[in-house]
Amino acid sequence: MKIYEQLGKENSNIRDVADSRPEDVLSYDKLIFGIPTWGIGELQDDWAVFLPGLEDMDLSGKSVAIFGLGDQESYPDTFADALGTLYDALTNTGCKITGSWCTLGYEFIESAAVRKGEFAGLVLDEENQSQLTDLRIKDWLRKVAPNS
Ligand SMILES: Cc1cc2nc3c(=O)[nH]c(=O)nc-3n(C[C@H](O)[C@H](O)[C@H](O)COP(=O)(O)O)c2cc1C
Repeated sequence: MKIYEQLGKENSNIRDVADSRPEDVLSYDKLIFGIPTWGIGELQDDWAVFLPGLEDMDLSGKSVAIFGLGDQESYPDTFADALGTLYDALTNTGCKITGSWCTLGYEFIESAAVRKGEFAGLVLDEENQSQLTDLRIKDWLRKVAPNS
């Protein structure tokens, strides 16, 4: 919701994966997916249903930015792991994945969301670093949606 508000409601739509089908993404050229990590490094239930279908889509020509929510203090060994699962699922869809994010400023032991030394997308920690969220979103949107 915060990302939607910063993007500008007139420029974007927001959808809940719980009420969406993977085919719905075909209506958009530019997409942002947000994913929390649940269990121990696992997908939240609605995402677990949505992701297998998304993985099989042809998203060639689309630009996709991804972000994840996690809790680095309570889950330092599986911090934002679902973001890595989402990244892996998108790699064979033909889309361009944008918005990798520096790991500086976070304290965790392991994260499956790290790719080549960076997070595969923006990581937000509303439990421990909510005061940084707005600025992180602003900086990230400057990269992934410079015209918004
Ligand atoms: C039962 C439970 C398990 C969680 N497991 C993880 C985890 O493995 N890794 C992580 O980074 N965060 C974990 N979290 C933290 C959530 O990802 C975080 O609270 C997030 O903001 C939840 O977003 P949501 O309320 O939009 O689903 C867990 C939270 C709960 C309640």
